[in-house]
Parts: sequence; C-alpha cells; structure tokens
Amino acid sequence: MDLERLKNLALEGLEKVTDRTSLESWRITFLGRKSVLAEFLGNLGRFPEAERRQKGIKANAIQQLLREAYGRKFASLGTSTAHIGALDITQPGKKISRGHFHPITMTLRKMIEIFRSMGFEVAEGPDIETEYYNFDALHIPSWHPARDMWDTFWLKPPIDMAKRRREISVHQRLDQRTSAWLLRTHTSPVQIRYMETHQPPIRIIAPGRVFRHEATDARHDFDFWQLEGLMIGAEVSFANFKFVMESFLKQFFSPDTALQLRASYFPFTEPSFEILMSCMICKGKGKMTGKKCSVCGGEQWLEMGGAGMVHPQVLRNVGYNPERVQGFAFGIGPDRFAMIKHKISDIRFFRSGDLRFIKQF
Ligand code: PHE
Repeated sequence: MDLERLKNLALEGLEKVTDRTSLESWRITFLGRKSVLAEFLGNLGRFPEAERRQKGIKANAIQQLLREAYGRKFASLGTSTAHIGALDITQPGKKISRGHFHPITMTLRKMIEIFRSMGFEVAEGPDIETEYYNFDALHIPSWHPARDMWDTFWLKPPIDMAKRRREISVHQRLDQRTSAWLLRTHTSPVQIRYMETHQPPIRIIAPGRVFRHEATDARHDFDFWQLEGLMIGAEVSFANFKFVMESFLKQFFSPDTALQLRASYFPFTEPSFEILMSCMICKGKGKMTGKKCSVCGGEQWLEMGGAGMVHPQVLRNVGYNPERVQGFAFGIGPDRFAMIKHKISDIRFFRSGDLRFIKQF
C-alpha cells in the first residue's frame, strides 16, 4: 500500500469536488468505514511490530490531513445544498400546527350569525331536562302516542326525589315539577323555559345538544344538535316563518336555494310542517352527471327539520293568552347543515375524534 499515493489521489479528487453531494461520496470513498485507509488501519496487525508502529503513525497522519481537508471543503461549499447532518439555516422551519374550530362549531356560528342579523336572540336550556319541559308542557302527555317520536334516555332520579315521589299524593304526582328526569330529546323545551320567564314579543333561537335512544347509522347519531326557533307576537304569521326560513337557507347555502313545506305532525304545533330544501348538490335535479344524486338520493329535496304555528295549548301552558298572541316555532339540524355544506357522508364522523377528518376543515 503506497500511502503517499493514496493521499495524493484523495487530494486530487477533492480538488474536483464542487458540491456537497460529490463531497459526500468522496468522504465515503476516502474516509468512510469501508475506505482503503480504514481497512489498512484495521489490518495493521499483519505487520511485524516495528513496521506496524511506523505505518500506523503515517496512516493516522494522512487520515487526519484528509479529515481537515474535508472540513475546509465542506465549509467552502456553503450551506445551500447541505444535507449531511449539518444545520441548514436556509431550510424552511417546521410548521407549528394550529388547531381550529370543529366543523359543527363553525356551522353553528354561521347559523347564529344569520339569525342574529334577522333580530333573533340566542337562548339556552339544560341538556338534562324534566319530563315536564321535554314532553308535557309541549302538549305531549305520557299517554300520547306521539311520545314514540322521541326515543328517550331516562335518568335515574336522585334518591331523595324517589322517596319524595312515594310520599306525595296522586294528585301531586301529576304535578309538573315532580316529573322524571331525562336527556332532552329536542331543543323544544327551551321554548317553554323562555316563554315562562319572558313576555311577547319574542324572537329567539336555541342551539343545543339533544339525545335519542336509537341505533346509529350514517344519518343518525344518538347525540346530535338542533337549532330551535321561536317567534311570538300579536300578529306573527306562518308567512313570516316562510320568509325567515327561506332567507336563512339562501344565506347559508346559496341564493338559488328553494324552500318547500310539507304537511306533517307535531303535538306542539298546529298546523305542522316538514322543512324541505332543494338539493344544493344536484341543484334540485335529482341527478348528477346522469347518475342519481348521492346527497338527495334522487329525491330533489332534503329534509332539514320541522316547524309550525305554536299550539294554543302550549301558549296556555306558559300562561299566555292564545287569543292575544301567536307565533311560529321550528327545529332544524345543524349536523345535517354541516353534512350537506361539506358533503360529509356519515354523521358519526363529527364525534369520532378522528383528526384525519377534523383537519380537513
Ligand atoms: N322538536 C321537533 C323534533 O325534534 C322539531 C320541531 C321544533 C317541530 C319546533 C316543530 C316546531 O322533532
């Protein structure tokens, strides 16, 4: 092994290096773990004692020299193409990821903003309700077949409440305030709570979580959102409702969105309607590029909620005089609004906690 020759060869090679990629291959060839020099140093044991020492010193000196030459070359090539473990200050930094609102929150905010612009105020009520507010006051007594419309999560009453129930008379048992507890199945109880504590004119919306004891599928969850609306006054008409709902849909989706009302039934409104909206995906055609529209399923209309004129008995239950005041109420589904707006195929994504889903918004 001619160490002198190896040294010259390496230095000549280094002369020709002009970028860090070729510098790296040079380093591997002459200074790497499998380089000739490394191998030579590793096999020094083959030489007799005296020779070994002398050759070792020489080889080490060359290795040192080459390392220094490498260092100078590395520095002279600047940092622009660095990728050999050195700190490259020209690289863009790591992005600090920032969170954002949940798609449901963004949808609720937008809905609230539109209704606020039409003079509606936001009201709230508890998620845990009593049977009275969730049902009875809304003209759905316990024997009413319409109760089946809302599969309910009933809650165990606290011990003292159960005791109290056993003690009270049958007459008292029918009293509203001793009723059982449940997770509200809709936001309509907020209507009652608000009317009990305010006098008309009233113009409110009540967004909130609701719960239904049901099996889930792509369109149903047991825990979802509703946005209730209530407007009460001397002359509030159903025409007013039509205008409010149509303006809302046009602002939320697009100006060419159409509203349709179909006769329906709710115990607390009379007459009652189903709120339908022209499918904004297929523009109410029912078809998309020859195929059935996947959002409305070819129906052309999408169900967005229920509505109607507040039932006179409901007004009486809160102490209003139905001869003097009247109004409309509605309940719409923010989850559904978000799903249609963002073309989300399964309602269960919202509460899945899956960041791959959340990060898309
Ligand atoms: N509370 C009804 C439901 O959850 C919707 C509704 C609200 C209907 C207000 C009419 C008026 O099904």
